[in-house]
Order: sequence, then structure tokens, then C-alpha cells
Amino acid sequence: MDLLAPALVDRLRDALAAAGFGYDAVAALLGPTAHAALGRNETTPGLRATRGGSPLETLVRLWPLQAPVAAERAGRALPGLVEPLAAAGLLERSGGEVRALVDVRPYADEGRDWWVVSDLTPGLDGAPIAVGPDHVLGVSSASSSLAQLTVRAPFDRALDLGTGCGVQALHLADHVREIVATDVNERALAMTRLNARLNRVGVDVRAGSLYEPVAGERFDLVVTNPPFVVSPATGERLVYRDSGLPGDEMVRRVVAGAPAHLRPGGWAQVLANWVHRRGEPWQDRVGGWLAGTGCDAWVVQREVADPAEYVELWLKDAGVHGRADYPERYDAWLAWFEEQGVEGVGFGWLHLRRVDRDPVVHLEEWPFEVEQPLGPEVADRARRTDFLAAHDDEALLAARLTVRVDVRQETVGEVGADDPESIVLRQQRGMRRARRADTVEAGLVGASDGDLTVRQLLAALASLLDLDPTVLCRERVAAVRELVADGYLLPS
Ligand SMILES: C[S@@+](CC[C@H](N)C(=O)[O-])C[C@H]1O[C@@H](n2cnc3c(N)ncnc32)[C@H](O)[C@@H]1O
Repeated sequence: MDLLAPALVDRLRDALAAAGFGYDAVAALLGPTAHAALGRNETTPGLRATRGGSPLETLVRLWPLQAPVAAERAGRALPGLVEPLAAAGLLERSGGEVRALVDVRPYADEGRDWWVVSDLTPGLDGAPIAVGPDHVLGVSSASSSLAQLTVRAPFDRALDLGTGCGVQALHLADHVREIVATDVNERALAMTRLNARLNRVGVDVRAGSLYEPVAGERFDLVVTNPPFVVSPATGERLVYRDSGLPGDEMVRRVVAGAPAHLRPGGWAQVLANWVHRRGEPWQDRVGGWLAGTGCDAWVVQREVADPAEYVELWLKDAGVHGRADYPERYDAWLAWFEEQGVEGVGFGWLHLRRVDRDPVVHLEEWPFEVEQPLGPEVADRARRTDFLAAHDDEALLAARLTVRVDVRQETVGEVGADDPESIVLRQQRGMRRARRADTVEAGLVGASDGDLTVRQLLAALASLLDLDPTVLCRERVAAVRELVADGYLLPS
């Protein structure tokens, strides 16, 4: 199913370009206040900022602001397109006015600009949220997170699993030769096709669940923001968030199925929820999914929601908050969590990379702010992991390491004291990690300029502090490993 004939998509593209309907132009037209208000789903300031009648103002009122516009103004902004767009079900004509039935808006990231067609943003100006089961989300904060985490190296083939409106595929087109985008929602696939054409990007769009549409195929990169909401099978199923599978089974299947579709060195990057079940550490649960995959894995838990917070979030997302059945639905969801022993739901990222040595699996909690885009750090961490895997302790002590340029040392202590009470090594970039260090560790990191080996530096510190150099090397090599893994020290 095509929403629009290709020739019409090209004419739409020309009209959007002619109106100057780009991200920066729309932001400038709205101004910071109205732009921020629209980010909060409030349109009144935006309507005040777009009263002039230019084609750009008309398009902003029609789509992001979802306001009816006079047919004559719509005709000027979209010459010859109002009738065909209405016939395709993308616009609606009523009386002398035209209103949008789907959203079209510019989207920008890292200096790139696209147009994205999706379903209308629900709940503007406090209107009740009403979304159909096959609702196609626009670019969400989760979409942007995944886009920013993605490793952007030149790749041959990539899979965007659960493509929705195709936002990840648009990003992939900048660095991947061949892109396959899949979804179970035909409406999403139609929008992805439209968005690919609108942005002059080639995407092989396929229907089907999980890895079915790519059976037997391998990729250099799989990216997915799957429908990971942990919900009971009662109530409406919104395909963009509810997989229909119990608990976190969808994420388990995405993770467990990825390695068979990765080329050597290939990546799978997944945004996900996982269940915290009574008596089972989350690391054991998620770690269990990774066992035997033949992949390095770096899993970062960003936050944990308690059951009530989680249920509220997703009932509000579905527009159930305030409805007569809200308490009943809330109670049923909590009861289901209780039955399942669910004590919380974790949210985070999984980065898998197929390797031809013993896999290194690292799971951690890092709820603090990170530098975005984090994709470069994901790739750098993989290079450091390879370095560590290739260096046993003796080889690591013989290596020359360099402190990363953004690492700062913070010392705290009494005024005038000879020695600080505490020393913290803090990264300004990437994960923005911080780590307490003692005099030896701070001395080692501070002196790591690639000139001397780790063993030579530790020997010098041992002589300064009157310690046994052999013992110091043995005691500190594990910390050196951590400092490299976490990016404080880099191989020279
Ligand atoms: C949260 S949306 C993500 C959309 C988009 N990739 C993004 O990053 O914003 C999840 C998508 O997965 C699709 N989906 C649901 N069940 C699926 C399944 N079993 N296999 C593949 N895709 C599925 C939904 O239709 C939806 O488009």
C-alpha cells in the first residue's frame, strides 16, 4: 500500500522546499517561546506567531499546530496538491477549510534536515488522547535517543527493526549502503515508504514480525526501538508500544535473535525495558539473554520505574488517565505485576557486537547525564574492549597509555592540608563518568602521557611511596583495566 503515488510525493517535496519548510525556518518563525510551547503540546503561542499568511505559516498551522486553514491559503502553500492529498486521506476538506489527517514536519539532527510524515500528535492543548491501535508515532524522545546512540561508521547493510515512520532508516541513509526497514504495521510501512521517497533515500521496506522478513540475512548494524512496554494483555493494544508478548519477552527475542543476523563485527543496538523480578537481580535476567550469543555486550540501565510510576506513565500515554475505567485499569495492571513478581521496570540500552573471541559482557547502571551523541563513545569503548581482550595482565603492564584529554582531577580537602581528603577523576565527555582515586591511581593517570609503560609508572610511584613495585603492579592491574575500559586511559 502506498499512501501517495511517487510522483505526488515528489511534488509534495517541491512544495515543502518552496515554502522553506525546514527545521530552522520553522523554529525561527515560531520563536523560542512558541517553539518550546509546541514541545509541550501547546499551540496557542504558535498560532499567534503564524498569522501572516505566508506559505510557511500556512504549513506550520496546518501540520505541527493542527489548525484548520482556509482552503485558498492551503492551495497557495500546496499548489495543485490539496485535492490529491485529500483523496489519499492525508488532508480533509470541509467547508472552505482544510485540516491535516497526518503530520508532516521538518526534523533535524547533527546538521541534517529531513521531513517526516507520521500520525498526528495526540493530545494537543489538553485534548483527550485518542490513538488507534495502528497509530504511527512521529519522532519521539526515544527515537532521538536511539539515533544518538547509533554507531555511525560507514556500513554495507543495516536493519531498522520496527521502523515506525522510518526515522532510524533516514539516519542510516547517511552512512549505510543498503537499508532494510521492517514493521508489522502496514500503515507504518506505508509512511516509511513515503518518508524515504520524500527525503530521496533508498529503503527496502518489508512487512513482518521480528526477524521473519530478514530470515537468513546478515547485517553490519541492527537498530531497534521495539515495542517494549511491559503490559498485561488486557486493554487496547497499541502496536507502537505493546508487542502482545508477555513481560519483556519481546526484548528477549530481539536480543536473542540478533546474533544470527550479524556479520562478523556487526552491531545490534537496542532501546529496551526489562523487568525487575522479585529475587532476580536485573543483571542476571538481562545477562541470561546475552549468554551464548557470541557477542560482546554493553548494557546500560538508565533508570528504574517502580510499578506504580510505570503504569501511570503508560496509561497516560494511551489517554486512559482521567477516564472512568482508569482506576480499574491501573489496579489490574498493578495486580498483574504483583502476580508476575515484578518489582520495577528498568529502561536502558543494549549494544551487542559479534566477535570472534570470548565475548566480554558488561552490565552497569548509569543514571547520570551523558554527552550526546554517544555513538562515537560506543564505538570507542568497543575498540578499548578489543585492546583489553588482546592484552593479558603482563601485556597491559607493558603498554603505554595516555590519559583522555577531557579527564579532569578534582581534589577536596581542608584548606592548607598537605594531602587531599578525596580525589575524583571526572570525564567531561562521553559517558561523563566520575571515579574516586587514591594517590597511586591519580598519580598513574596524571603521569600517563604515552611515554612510559604502566609498569614503569607504577614502579616510580612505588619508590615515591615506599611500596613494593611488584605487589603494586599486581594489586593495581585490575584498576588499570577498568580505567581503560571506561575511557580514562587510552592505548597510545
Ligand atoms: C516504539 S516504535 C519505534 C519506531 C521507530 N523505529 C523509532 O525509533 O521511533 C516500535 C515499532 O515496532 C513495531 N512493531 C510492533 N511489533 C513488532 C514486531 N513484532 N516486529 C517488528 N516490529 C514491530 C511497531 O509497529 C512500531 O512501529
